[in-house]
Amino acid sequence: MHVTARAHPNIALVKYWGKRDSERNLPAVGSISITLGDLWTDMHIETDAQADELSVNDEPRPDLLPRIAACLDTVAGDDRRPMSVTSKSNFPVAAGLASSASSFAAAVVAAAGVSGQELCREELANLAGRASGSAARSLYEGFVELENAPDRVHVRSIRDTSSWPLSVVVAITSTLPKSVGSGEAMEVSRRTSPFYERWVDAQADDLERARTAILARDFDALAEVAEHNCLKMHSVMWASRPPMVYWNAATLDCMQVVRQLQSDGVSVFFTIDAGPQVKAICLPEYADQVRDAMAAIDGVEQVMTSGLGEGAHLLG
Ligand code: DP6
Repeated sequence: MHVTARAHPNIALVKYWGKRDSERNLPAVGSISITLGDLWTDMHIETDAQADELSVNDEPRPDLLPRIAACLDTVAGDDRRPMSVTSKSNFPVAAGLASSASSFAAAVVAAAGVSGQELCREELANLAGRASGSAARSLYEGFVELENAPDRVHVRSIRDTSSWPLSVVVAITSTLPKSVGSGEAMEVSRRTSPFYERWVDAQADDLERARTAILARDFDALAEVAEHNCLKMHSVMWASRPPMVYWNAATLDCMQVVRQLQSDGVSVFFTIDAGPQVKAICLPEYADQVRDAMAAIDGVEQVMTSGLGEGAHLLG
């Protein structure tokens, strides 16, 4: 028996930062993201193996196997058959580009397919979210909202891909592994940042503003709240002990170029996750201009452009 599932990474516009329950990996705050269409992870699972095995982009990765195997257990059960898992992505997985989101979203869909489990999308999203909080959003297309509920998350698409096409230009400023993983960094923030509680309390207001902007297709309002929410999340990290600063000089240069484009009348805004890469979100008619401006910055190693895309699904 074998199946292949495809999932796309997603980029949060209102960020998930902090856990209310680390045991079950439940987030402290809701979040809103966009699912990318042109970047993908394909996960192929076969059940004729002697023991679980994992390869990522044609390299054996026993180091990553325990986290994937635990995720497969939550879907197919602890007594499942051994699985041979082959994962391929068309973007650099070490680049802080939410490869864990597309990987775990693809993993739950493939594991359900190969083990014959009929689970609804929200159930799959909850299982993906247990492995990595942001992965829950990659089950859905377009603009996606994740809300906290008692003991679980509710996830839904609030606008589809075609009704408001946006472009995302990703500027890679370093491919070095990050110094602190996001899960650990969230815990340091929760324990030590004087801004953490304020961050959690203010999230409902940012979610409301972003949701309203998306429903109204109001680009400027979405830009304002997304940049605010991103900089607020990084302020929480900067004020933690020890401080966590993921940016490099090129990250700041990218932000300044986005500011310059904005003052030239280009509809674009930036967002940055737990890494030094900058994602510039723009209306599609500006995508080439934004890409060229980002590519010209010293220290930008690679630029990728994507439209919005669909939720995780089985292929073939
Ligand atoms: C900054 O989903 O990687 O990208 O649940 O610990 O696996 P874990 O965290 P993860 O965190 C993502 C954090 C973020 C913001 C976001 O995607 O919402």
